[in-house]
Amino acid sequence: MDLFFHLPTELLLGDGVVIKNADKLARLGQRALIVAGRSADKNGALSDVCAALDEKGVAHARVMGPKPNPDLPDVQRIVDAGRDFKADFIVAIGGGSPIDASKVSAALLAQALNTADLERRPLKDAALPIVAVPTTAGTGTEANTYSIITTENPKRKKTFLTPAMAPRLGLLDPKYTYSLDAVQSASTAIDALAHLIEGYVREGYTQISEMLALEGLSHIAKCKDALLNKTYDAEARASLLYASMIGGIMLAHFRTIAPHQMGYTLTNFRDMPHGQACGVLLASFLGKMRHGCEDRIQKALGALGMSDLGEFKAFIAKVLPPHGEYTREELESYVEACAEDAFSKPNPVEMDREMLLSIFVESLIEN
Ligand SMILES: [Fe+2]
Repeated sequence: MDLFFHLPTELLLGDGVVIKNADKLARLGQRALIVAGRSADKNGALSDVCAALDEKGVAHARVMGPKPNPDLPDVQRIVDAGRDFKADFIVAIGGGSPIDASKVSAALLAQALNTADLERRPLKDAALPIVAVPTTAGTGTEANTYSIITTENPKRKKTFLTPAMAPRLGLLDPKYTYSLDAVQSASTAIDALAHLIEGYVREGYTQISEMLALEGLSHIAKCKDALLNKTYDAEARASLLYASMIGGIMLAHFRTIAPHQMGYTLTNFRDMPHGQACGVLLASFLGKMRHGCEDRIQKALGALGMSDLGEFKAFIAKVLPPHGEYTREELESYVEACAEDAFSKPNPVEMDREMLLSIFVESLIEN
């Protein structure tokens, strides 16, 4: 068995976790750049971070977090702010976007580079320390090195990574997710579900990926009624945040496969929320992968408390009702946009363009 497992991030989850760990923040430096969107003002995360930094005498400045699906200008804005402030470390508060943009910004700052340099040379393994404070329960980005940034010409999601971009600290407080709206809650939960399933069914089974998948999925199973009824109590919020973190650990080691690459096209070209874009394709994808990973599909469904892929597909459609009309020609163009990336992943069964188109059609036209 070949296995690589390395988790350099200290992950702490619980009520009041930021204030309780102020000393860990102070150990990272004396000047903190906070990257936080407007949601951090209302969910309590920003005030907790500022209070923890103030308690330890750490100077801080804030730059507004990027829009969803951050691009290189968003990253450069953070780099400029960090350079102006002479930041020792970054505290990234938010969903995937502020944390992902902060990771590559931290590498650029440590290496005295700008986003224009990313085209010309690979990143070295150096980055300012990052503290990730997630306020959604889905991306799991607090637990891995990946920074996913949207590039123009061609428009695609590009992954930047070096080991140093792994956050030093992930501080997860479920109460920061209480103010998520129904669509954000559902889409991010389905993103976590996709991370757990894709990492589990991919080629290259390990007992650790199975352990992570079944643990994370069993916590999503506890939240099925909350997801269907769109009402979340404290226990459901904590379970979803925990499942998301486990999904992030899964991503760190086992990455994602074709559904994520295909889903990126729906986000890039139709603005579909990331989790929904991946989730809507999952049932059809798994149906076509059956002969490569039948036992794992059944175990995953069992952990979710579901009997078959029909039930799984109906669940996702109820949690995130499909919307929008699609033509076959449009879906053919999406196949071209994602084929190369989708084929390069360790999918359990070899894929071709016909299969990709069939998954898009089954998921978006024949649903
Ligand atoms: Fe994802």
